[in-house]
Amino acid sequence: MNLSYKNLKLVACGTFAVMLVAGFTSCGKKDTNSPGFEFMPDMYRSPSVEYYGTHVINGDTINNALLPVNGTIARGFIPYVYPNTVEAYEQAGLYLKNPIAYSAAVEKEGEDLYVKFCVHCHGSTGAGDGKVAAKLPGPPPAYNGALKNLSEGKIFHTITYGKGSMGPHQSLLTQEERWKLVYYVQKLQGPKTVATDSTKAVAPADSTKKH
Ligand code: HEC
Repeated sequence: MNLSYKNLKLVACGTFAVMLVAGFTSCGKKDTNSPGFEFMPDMYRSPSVEYYGTHVINGDTINNALLPVNGTIARGFIPYVYPNTVEAYEQAGLYLKNPIAYSAAVEKEGEDLYVKFCVHCHGSTGAGDGKVAAKLPGPPPAYNGALKNLSEGKIFHTITYGKGSMGPHQSLLTQEERWKLVYYVQKLQGPKTVATDSTKAVAPADSTKKH
């Protein structure tokens, strides 16, 4: 009885020692991506085909992150014809018009986008006093100051390609969203003080509200 109790203690100590060693060594595997012992492998390893993954299907290695075929356009995507040059910026300012009819709802959508994408630099009233603006080499000019007479085409062009320390937004916002933003920027600009070339053919921003 006494002997078997001692044996029991020995076994318990031994088991503890083995667990301790296993505990320390199991984390020190060379393959850091290996999850180690898998209790239920099918819970770790999804059988579905993953985005951006490389899979072998019927012997073919398939990379899911392929570039679109040259010369094709994704459904719903509208290419922007003006390149990112100074001349094209001027041309966009002259010829580019907002294709979306004005409505208060559209302007409100523009405001929602502005709060998400622009307010941290341009500030809530467009004065160029957003929280990030002070950290930029030059804060953005005020919409209702230096940018008061900026035409809709130039606004659109700048949102697309960025300018100075403002980054391009063409991959973040669809053309439709960018045009909705133009309406909101125009609201922050207030009425124009001079008719720029781009506003000669079509009346300034405010009169589009009559549509
Ligand atoms: C990282 C900060 C930053 C963000 C975010 C940002 N801007 Fe700007 N923006 C600037 C700066 C700085 C300038 C001044 C650029 C210059 O003239 O060199 C500027 C300039 C502009 C101009 C004037 C362009 C011109 O033709 O002179 C417009 C319009 C504008 N931004 C609209 C927007 C809109 C709309 C958004 C949101 C989609 C946005 N910006 C997001 C920093 C930012």
